[in-house]
Amino acid sequence: MATQKKKTAAAGEAGTFPHKHLTSIAPLSAQDINLILDRADRYADQLAGNPAWKADVLYGRTVLIAFFENSTRTRVSFEMAAKKLGADVINLDIDTSSVSKGESLMDTVTTLDAMRPNALIIRHKEYGAPEYIAKHVKCAVVNAGDSWREHPTQALLDALTIRRAKGKIEDLTIAICGDIAHSRVAGSNIALLSKLGAKIRVIAPSFLMPEKFDYQGIETFTSMEDGLPGCDIVMMLRNQKERMDAKSIPDDETFFRRYGLTAQRLALATPGALVMHPGPMNRGVEISDEVADDPKHSLILEQVRLGIPTRMAVLDLLINK
Ligand code: NCD
Repeated sequence: MATQKKKTAAAGEAGTFPHKHLTSIAPLSAQDINLILDRADRYADQLAGNPAWKADVLYGRTVLIAFFENSTRTRVSFEMAAKKLGADVINLDIDTSSVSKGESLMDTVTTLDAMRPNALIIRHKEYGAPEYIAKHVKCAVVNAGDSWREHPTQALLDALTIRRAKGKIEDLTIAICGDIAHSRVAGSNIALLSKLGAKIRVIAPSFLMPEKFDYQGIETFTSMEDGLPGCDIVMMLRNQKERMDAKSIPDDETFFRRYGLTAQRLALATPGALVMHPGPMNRGVEISDEVADDPKHSLILEQVRLGIPTRMAVLDLLINK
């Protein structure tokens, strides 16, 4: 039964997924990314036709979720994805775990790994924590966001959202706007969208602009008015005040006046341009209510919806080798 369902989900896909973990976008080839997106696309179709659809491709497997940072959508999305595929899901409650008794991160994860889970999904404030953990455990490790470095499944679900809305990613002009310097969503999206051939623009005030990028051909702008014309997708980001000295950015109203996405500013982009945001949104800071809630332009809830099939694909490909 499980094998049959797996064959159905994988029909028409090329290649196998050669990685044991998903901790960054950097090591993935365009082919690896497309393999995930193709499988996610099929799961998305199945769920669109029947939201109650479930499979047993991960029946008898255990997925452990350990979030050392707050989250709403990402944690719930991983849990729903694993359950849709029939896995047993354990959510580690960090506040009541031995972490609060001073246990080291490494001791916590090696203890969890000794219980033989199939996957560990980790969110942590330390730069590179998921990669460090991946070197010390037997199970697959999925990075659900580390510091300001990477959030690979967010970039994958964003890519799936763009691909389903626009039919392609290659050659689209995509603006990523706001707090680029402290955003792991920007980090993973710049890597992924570069690999898939999008033209990337980054729009940010100079104090939120990284000094350099690891990828070629990224255009930088310090004004929305200069950067938005010609864009097919406008991706907004939250100011990550928890990762900076909050005094280093202007007050929310001043920021909104210069960098907030309003309907008037969106009109500068290509007609039919679509708006994205990974959430949580700060309305009236980086985005107006009018734009966030505009069903003709906003993909924001579609991103949330497509997070589930994207994470289903990732878990399926990593666990079902
Ligand atoms: C982001 C995150 O936690 O990195 N949200 C998310 O996972 N959807 C972005 C943010 O916190 O602003």
